[in-house]
Amino acid sequence: MSRSPGLAGKTALVTGGASGIGLATATRLSGEGTHVIIADINIDLAREAADRLGGTAIGLDVASEASWLDLVETVRTRFGGIDFLANCAGIAKMRNLRDVRLEEYRQVIDVNQVGTFLGLKAAIALMGDRKGSIVNLSSINSLRGSADSTAYAASKAAVISMTMTAARDLVQQIRVNVVLPGIIATTMQTRNSAQQRAGIDRLLQIPGRMGEAEEVAEVILFLLSDLSSYITGAQIVVDGGLTLGSPK
Ligand code: NAI
Repeated sequence: MSRSPGLAGKTALVTGGASGIGLATATRLSGEGTHVIIADINIDLAREAADRLGGTAIGLDVASEASWLDLVETVRTRFGGIDFLANCAGIAKMRNLRDVRLEEYRQVIDVNQVGTFLGLKAAIALMGDRKGSIVNLSSINSLRGSADSTAYAASKAAVISMTMTAARDLVQQIRVNVVLPGIIATTMQTRNSAQQRAGIDRLLQIPGRMGEAEEVAEVILFLLSDLSSYITGAQIVVDGGLTLGSPK
């Protein structure tokens, strides 16, 4: 049976779509004929990307319910709704447990965990009775004891759990899956300190290199598309083998 991705003519909302994995996802979707709505806290970069891709830019702070309510209103009025959501917005404040302050912990939880929750709620509102598909972004940090990762790993573990419960609650109407990238060459990595980069270099001995944003976007595209029509509640690791074990 030959199958089509079913992306053309549809509408996708990509949070964090102004940069990195979100931008790569928006670019691939646009290439498949999907109308992309790039929702990002960095509205200037979002506009640049949307202009280039022929999509739409909307300012959004994923941690703010009011910001999401505005977005839902705008998208409903202008486009009627959405078929796909890629919840790519995220921040990483890498701090050792000894140093991390409650305020920083809460900020990471607010963006990565609460932001994903609010995205799921908005998608339900905007998908109506359409057969939709959602992809959340977790991280391999949540699978193991990762250094300097208290808030980040906790927020990303919550995203895995939330994906499975959302998939269960929405089963037969909206598929919900989660991607767990390894170390991907985006601004999130270039912001690391020299000490953190040394640790990352050690981890990279197994895959031999960082992943590219496009290599993660490809998997997100598959999970959004009809090519994965019988997959929901799944966790897909995209890490070049990093979590397979220690270097020799
Ligand atoms: P990035 O820093 O290149 O892009 C993140 C985007 O999210 C930016 O455009 C930023 O403006 C936006 N953003 C940040 N806070 C926001 C907020 N409150 N509201 C709306 N937009 C906001 O990072 P990257 O690497 O593309 O990350 C994408 C996702 O992948 C994140 O959820 C990240 O945690 C996850 N990830 C990334 C890894 C990596 O090595 N780069 C590894 C594992 C997971």
